[in-house]
Amino acid sequence: MIISAPTDYRQAAKAKLPPFLFHYIDGGSYSEHTLDRNIRDLSEIALKQRVLKNMSDLSLDTEIFGEQFSLPIALSPVGLTGMYARRGEVQAAKAADNKGIPFTLSTVSVCPIEEVVPTIQRPMWFQLYVLKDRGFMKNVLERAKAAGVTTLVFTVDMPVPGARYRDMHSGMSGPNAAIRRVVQAMFKPHWALDVGVFGKPHDLGNVSTYRGEPTKLEDYIGWLGDNFDPSISWQDLEWIRDFWDGPMVIKGILDEQDAKDAVKFGADGIVVSNHGGRQLDGVLSSAKALPGIANAVKGDLKIFVDSGIRTGLDVVRMLSLGADCAMLGRSFIYALAAEGQQGVENLLDLFEKEMRVAMTLTGAKSIHDLGPESLVVNT
Ligand code: FNR
Ligand code: LAC
Repeated sequence: MIISAPTDYRQAAKAKLPPFLFHYIDGGSYSEHTLDRNIRDLSEIALKQRVLKNMSDLSLDTEIFGEQFSLPIALSPVGLTGMYARRGEVQAAKAADNKGIPFTLSTVSVCPIEEVVPTIQRPMWFQLYVLKDRGFMKNVLERAKAAGVTTLVFTVDMPVPGARYRDMHSGMSGPNAAIRRVVQAMFKPHWALDVGVFGKPHDLGNVSTYRGEPTKLEDYIGWLGDNFDPSISWQDLEWIRDFWDGPMVIKGILDEQDAKDAVKFGADGIVVSNHGGRQLDGVLSSAKALPGIANAVKGDLKIFVDSGIRTGLDVVRMLSLGADCAMLGRSFIYALAAEGQQGVENLLDLFEKEMRVAMTLTGAKSIHDLGPESLVVNT
């Protein structure tokens, strides 16, 4: 398949992956209304075309927590990335590193912290979930610190997993899931050999390193439900903030008051996110939630945003709506599943090209020039 646009990678990933994995990535929760809204609402944001402003020295340089990056883009944490490509977290981290942007390792990654960090030059970011086993949290934070992780992304919108009905149909979970997965893998021989055989071990590397035994992934979403802690509150975050010396970013904010509470708590950043429409279906899209949040807390902390970003133009839209940096979830995962590290690097090149054209034609010479004035309202 010929890849020319960033969105081409979705079909390419579908062709490569066993259906249970493709649908786990691609799907959302319940009726997937928020998943659809994330993309539709963003596409409806109208950019304002401006011309004849001498745009020859345009820069996408971005500073985040004292570090320089080449683009206002980071990779969002994605669980089980090592199932979509061989040792997928390492490949994605290397791609981000080569492009000069941050990679965030998920708590529920296949490759553990210690496997990924030595493969990249830049400091890695790490995402933490609240598991009931607080011994695990302390252990993983200590290991992240020892490995030189700088930024901690703390995900707060998953005290319980939202129901993923698509996973039941696809064989990710549900009746006879194990057998169905084996049959599906037989029809994807390239994946079966490359990832299924040579990509082992397949477990949650961070958790199994702590527990000293493989994590059973027969029922992954069931595992999340059993191990995640619904009692989490702002107080739980306090010991983490005291323990963690580096920047702390709260991921999963969709409400202005919660954003203000994050400022009060002393967070260095927030990710405006509905988890890619994978948690509470029916909530606002990130594109709709962002302007109000930016209005309430812009300048008090860094505003990251994800959910629905599929193109470089979408990044320009999100920055115009008030974000300081965009984060990519499915976009980079589709590219990784299709073409590994090379796919993610190519995707980021395509994003960069789109952003340069969009900024040239909106008259923004740097990312700081993007704002409400870059948009046409009430279209
Ligand atoms: C996720 N997301 C996620 N978030 C997180 O904090 N920790 C995690 O382990 C995961 N795992 C995960 C797996 C898969 C397959 C997907 C698609 C997403 C959510 C992710 O970080 C991000 O918020 C969304 O993917 C953003 O939406 P888009 O860009 O995918 O629409
Ligand atoms: C998901 C979890 C792992 O969205 O965050 O599937």
